[in-house]
Amino acid sequence: MNQMDVKREKFTLTTPLYYVNALPHIGSAYTTMAADASARFQRLQGKSVRLVTGTDEHGQKIQRTAQEAGRSPQEYCDEIATGFDRLWQKLDIQYDRFIRTTDPRHEILVKEFFQRVWDAGDIYLGRQTGWYCVSCEEFKDERELLEEHYCPIHPNKQTEWRDEENYFFRLSKYQSQLEDLYAQHPEFIQPEMRRNEVLNFVKQGLQDFSISRVNLDWGFPVPGDPSHTLYVWFDALLGYITALVEPGEEPNLENAAQWLPFDLHLIGKDILRFHVVYWPAMLMSAQLPLPKCVFGHGFLTKDGQKMGKSLGNTLDPYQLADRYGADAVRYYFLKEIEFGRDGDFNHTRFINTLNADLANDLGNLLNRSLNMSRKYCNGKLPNIAAEDIADSNPLKQMGQQVGEKVKKAYQQLGYSEACQAILELVRTGNKYIDEQEPWTLYKQKQQAAVEEILYAVLESVRVAAYLLSPVVPQLSTKIYQQLGWAVNFEDQAAIGEKAPYSVHSRWGILPANQPIEKPQPVFRRLEE
Ligand code: MSP
Repeated sequence: MNQMDVKREKFTLTTPLYYVNALPHIGSAYTTMAADASARFQRLQGKSVRLVTGTDEHGQKIQRTAQEAGRSPQEYCDEIATGFDRLWQKLDIQYDRFIRTTDPRHEILVKEFFQRVWDAGDIYLGRQTGWYCVSCEEFKDERELLEEHYCPIHPNKQTEWRDEENYFFRLSKYQSQLEDLYAQHPEFIQPEMRRNEVLNFVKQGLQDFSISRVNLDWGFPVPGDPSHTLYVWFDALLGYITALVEPGEEPNLENAAQWLPFDLHLIGKDILRFHVVYWPAMLMSAQLPLPKCVFGHGFLTKDGQKMGKSLGNTLDPYQLADRYGADAVRYYFLKEIEFGRDGDFNHTRFINTLNADLANDLGNLLNRSLNMSRKYCNGKLPNIAAEDIADSNPLKQMGQQVGEKVKKAYQQLGYSEACQAILELVRTGNKYIDEQEPWTLYKQKQQAAVEEILYAVLESVRVAAYLLSPVVPQLSTKIYQQLGWAVNFEDQAAIGEKAPYSVHSRWGILPANQPIEKPQPVFRRLEE
């Protein structure tokens, strides 16, 4: 950690570590875009952020997929992991750490963790029987299975009967500690509706779960008993911790601890149980601090069905990003779907939303008002100070409140709510300029009124661009630059100092009388 980091408040967040059985689909991209928006928001707050993402590479599912492709598992993982990184570049994801669970450094940390849990008396040898879904890498309760033992999450995959000797983790020992955690920290499981599901599940009584497999060699051997392979989920969750160790440092729990606890684990609702039941119990056993919040978002559907690799009804995120650009894809998913709920992708809606919000409402407003400013204000920004604009001005009024409102929304992962509040300001700007008709006032030589109107509109566009920057950083940078600010929202290391939220989210900082270049459209209209 460098000197500057020591002083700043920290924020550590994660995406799931994605299985590498196939290239990422839009579901994995969704979580990652949301996590990136939150990380960017936290950086604007001046925090020192660790956004962890990566790949989960062990286990039967990966081993089988590699075999079917006629490849060695490692070779297969290497290729797919690169594919994930390639997509994150296309989607403008600024992660701080990319952890691959096949990293040899990870094995060292896993061994240390296993030893701690072992020393706590929480691991024992037992017998596991039951139905196993290889796609979930999880034993299923017979009651939750579909007919003929098909998995409810992967309805085209039959579960497999297992009867084997496994090592178990003593989850049952943590029943009351977990219940205390949920009671004392209701914010730990979010959103609220997911919390109730978990409470009901836990109330039925927790059972120990197996953390090793036999007849599988793609994974780390169980320390002290190499005839067993560590269960993929046990090793995967620990990947979050290994990711926190600085690249040059020894991979051990102490070196990771400086970034603990996790402020936020962002996941999909299907893997909630692992994160809010198994994971905190494992951390309790190893005497490590518990995450502050786990947020289980909804599923993206296409024609009402869950999109997923196993069902083969996915939407290609590479193509979307190549064709429409990162900002467009990020904006659609974060604005159009209420985070936490399921959301459907619809191509027409995608095009319409982007054209309406970003090309028309925001982009055109900037373009029109900059052109007017050049024409009516001698090629410069309006010559007026924000203090000289009446408090009753509708844009000033709204602009002075939007920063706080959006901050609260981002803090609660209400990306859609944040975007809507920002767009409301932009729409008010459009209405205001149409009603005020600065072009008529200019003809009437009411110069002071013209400058006031244009200032109010341009400053509102600036605030909107700033507040939208966690979602559409490239667009925000372009808008800022056209308004004469040398601020680049991609500047991960310095953005919190160059454009702190406490200053830039406030309406009224646009400098007066600055020369402006000929404006260029900032967001190209999309075609079907
Ligand atoms: N490897 C585990 C996670 C281990 S974390 C230590 C895993 N990987 S996954 O690749 O199968 O899924 C990763 C994430 O993608 C999960 O959060 C899952 O909910 C999410 N999604 C998978 N399909 C999805 C949609 N159709 N829509 C939204 N998210 C979905 O689970």
